[in-house]
Amino acid sequence: MTCIAATMPTIGLGTYGRTGDAGMASILAALELGYRHIDTAQSYDTERPVGEAFRRSGIPREQVFITTKVADTKLDRVGFMPSVEESLETLGLDHVDLLLIHWPSQNNAVPFEDYMTELKRAQDIGHSRFIGVSNFPIAMLEQTRALLGDGAVVTNQVEIHPYLQAPRLSNYARSIGLPLTAYQPLAQGDVRSDPVLVALGERHGVTPAAVALAFLMAEGHAVIPASSNPVNLRENMRSLEVRLSDDEMGQIRALNRSERRINPTKSPRWDD
Ligand SMILES: NC(=O)c1ccc[n+]([C@@H]2O[C@H](COP(=O)([O-])OP(=O)(O)OC[C@H]3O[C@@H](n4cnc5c(N)ncnc54)[C@H](OP(=O)(O)O)[C@@H]3O)[C@@H](O)[C@H]2O)c1
Repeated sequence: MTCIAATMPTIGLGTYGRTGDAGMASILAALELGYRHIDTAQSYDTERPVGEAFRRSGIPREQVFITTKVADTKLDRVGFMPSVEESLETLGLDHVDLLLIHWPSQNNAVPFEDYMTELKRAQDIGHSRFIGVSNFPIAMLEQTRALLGDGAVVTNQVEIHPYLQAPRLSNYARSIGLPLTAYQPLAQGDVRSDPVLVALGERHGVTPAAVALAFLMAEGHAVIPASSNPVNLRENMRSLEVRLSDDEMGQIRALNRSERRINPTKSPRWDD
């Protein structure tokens, strides 16, 4: 169940919206159920509950993979590193496992080289074991390779689910050996009532959500579903047991309708 450099568990826990004590309790429940990869961000207000849940879990630090993301308001050379240090302080950690650029700077307001160089510097000084990007289209991944070299970033976290399979980006990422991390992999829970996924779930004895996650992992992506419900948290982990046939993979591929849900005005020009 690992992908990045054999250390990032392929299934992780999304934490968007899991704030405060209730959020902390659901993140702790996930850790107790076996989740070992947690996704947070400066802009989610979940760094504190993630750190608290991790400490309360008693799990050794090296066994939990923690990702955070630098907000697009903190990309400039002056603000970047202090924001990373504030994240570590809020999390109560001396380093994260993965540090991502959350969104590229809109219209290059902060020059690409500036924030990508700061990202690499954050890794070099030990603030993060690995670095990566999020919401990057192919052109910006090419720029990244030209600036930092092949293999410098270990993932691109992007919206991918059965209704937005992003074939151009996925094929490109596969061609350069870059794993994608599928955010919003359950299409915000909408996969639960999809007739194709419901039927496949019945055949495999799992939920439609677990089928969707199994599909995305079989496509080579990591997945970070969010849930505050212990039953859903457990069922989502069961996606690791599901093996889909070629015919079943084909049925789910046919669900793609390029339906993007996260598309703020700051978005780059998407490939799919
Ligand atoms: N990089 C970025 O720009 C970016 C953008 C968006 C999201 N993300 C990350 O991706 C994570 C996941 O995205 P998301 O939280 O927006 O959406 P999601 O994971 O696709 O869906 C979460 C929703 O699905 C429901 N759910 C979970 N398991 C289920 C199951 N087995 N059956 C039915 N419903 C289920 C949850 O409700 P319950 O709580 O009731 O289970 C929740 O309402 C975020 O939390 C965040 O960490 C990153």
